[in-house]
Amino acid sequence: MRRLLIAGNWKMNLDCNGARELALAVCQRAPEFNAVDLLLCPPHVYLNLVSQAVAGSPVAVGGQNMYHEPSGAFTGEVSGAMLADAGATAVILGHSERRHVLGETNADVNRKVIAALQVNLTPIVCVGELLSEREAGRTSEVNRGQIEGSLAELDPEQILQIVIAYEPVWAIGTGKVATPKQAEEVHADLRRLLAERYNQAVADKVRILYGGSMKPGNAGELLQQPNVDGGLIGGASLKADEFLGIAQIGTALENNS
Ligand code: 13P
Repeated sequence: MRRLLIAGNWKMNLDCNGARELALAVCQRAPEFNAVDLLLCPPHVYLNLVSQAVAGSPVAVGGQNMYHEPSGAFTGEVSGAMLADAGATAVILGHSERRHVLGETNADVNRKVIAALQVNLTPIVCVGELLSEREAGRTSEVNRGQIEGSLAELDPEQILQIVIAYEPVWAIGTGKVATPKQAEEVHADLRRLLAERYNQAVADKVRILYGGSMKPGNAGELLQQPNVDGGLIGGASLKADEFLGIAQIGTALENNS
């Protein structure tokens, strides 16, 4: 019912040539993996060239952040309309690196989600607990709080347009991956929250991705969990073989389900 989404977050990596080559390598083999959705999120300055590289293929392109205002005197910022103009159909919002390194709040993320929806970008809204929060038994409270704050004021129609990504902060770029059971627990809890706030039908339709050291070696077990609907992949998305390896695992699961 929920199609797997395999999304690459390239973060602040690559250069023009590297971005083009990686995008071409992914889209050349993308037709083999047509049971899953594929998305590449390059740095904003490479959005245009990546969009051109994947044109005509099933691969979609997304931004990694945006500003909530549509235009104006906001030096250094990029609007949702600009991302869309450069070929993006989605945008990652509230990534933990933005929350914890750059000080983004739930209220900031909420404004961005609303602005993204206004220009028909799919917001991929990230949540996740710190290791200290998990150890203090606050995992559910933290993730629920981030969802409540980041998705405040959205009606059920709007919720159906978004994707959630659960990214435990302690698993990002550390090589430490959440166990399938840990991931499933949080994903199921977030889906329960959506059912409580909206209704079960809405909750059942929203995709919840897992992010945090996902690799071909661990993707199978994670993607098999009933409430894990794809991956938001950092490091492994910078290598076409690894990213496509995860897409291949997702495709096999979809074809067998
Ligand atoms: P890694 O896959 O490098 O752990 O990064 C995950 C992530 O932050 C994706 O948004």
